[in-house]
Amino acid sequence: MRHLLDTRTLAKDNALLILDTAVDMAATQQREVKKLPTLRGKTVVNLFYEDSTRTRISFEAAAKRLSADVINFSAKGSSVSKGESLKDTAQTLQAIGADGVVIRHPASGAPERLARSGWIDAGVLNAGDGTHEHPTQALLDAFTMRRRLFTNADGSDASRGRDLDGISVVIVGDLAHSRVARSNLWLLTALGANVTFVAPETLQPYGARDWPVTVRHDLDEAIAKDQPDVVMMLRIQSERMHAAYFPNEREYSRHWGLGDARLGALPERTLVMHPGPMNRGLEISSAAADSPRSTVLEQVANGVSVRMASLYLLLSGERASERSSND
Ligand code: ASP
Ligand code: CP
Repeated sequence: MRHLLDTRTLAKDNALLILDTAVDMAATQQREVKKLPTLRGKTVVNLFYEDSTRTRISFEAAAKRLSADVINFSAKGSSVSKGESLKDTAQTLQAIGADGVVIRHPASGAPERLARSGWIDAGVLNAGDGTHEHPTQALLDAFTMRRRLFTNADGSDASRGRDLDGISVVIVGDLAHSRVARSNLWLLTALGANVTFVAPETLQPYGARDWPVTVRHDLDEAIAKDQPDVVMMLRIQSERMHAAYFPNEREYSRHWGLGDARLGALPERTLVMHPGPMNRGLEISSAAADSPRSTVLEQVANGVSVRMASLYLLLSGERASERSSND
């Protein structure tokens, strides 16, 4: 693998390789000394043109635990505000010798542009681009599902090598603006899961009817008919909305929120996931977010292992002779 740009073109074998490597990385994080020498001498730049808490700090933690040098670049406070282009910024990173660039950008396709442009030799990891994709989020979500679903009788992890064949995942909320939903759809279907999108028609993604997904508008119907192993709630992304997509927050919450009554109606085994940040009281109630079946904080912790695995697989060894892209 040279870059990690999306899950749509990520081969199932490579997805399983990342997930299984993350199992090894997670095991190292149980030790007293968490740091590995694997990426000593390498430089990872976190290039963030959009706000982030979890993704930025977990990529930073992941790179540091692999002993890489980490440079954090946020567009706010940089020469981007003086009009500097992505190309000039990229060439600046090339000049300082970046081996890996983790990029979050409001424009869909910016990471691919960076990877294919020839401006830099570094491996590019997409940390979320516009409404397009957020591949490491989907990988950490799949890792979290495997961990919760596949355990030995003694409670130890039995997820290695397993796909998600036949698992039912219901993804609910602002799908139209969600790169998390798109990345999850491609990865989960590659791993054999059945995915349902639930949202009002105005928040369904354009083109979803041509995708390998069941589209529904009624959350109670989805819970009853799909008997989900996982319900993944998505944030209403007000910052990407330039019109009214639903009558008001109370209505939204009543129809599409995971409130206390719906939480009680879920099958016993169903996991509650949310990528964060959460709008508590809108798409998810505090009781649901904080319940034992919620994996919200596990998702964050697992993000470090998955990002360690991604950085390790992309950046360890020599890169110069490699020419393929996302494979
Ligand atoms: N943090 C995720 C993202 O950046 C989800 C969200 O913001 O709602 O895509
Ligand atoms: N889940 C996620 O990407 O969170 P941040 O936007 O805080 O990075």
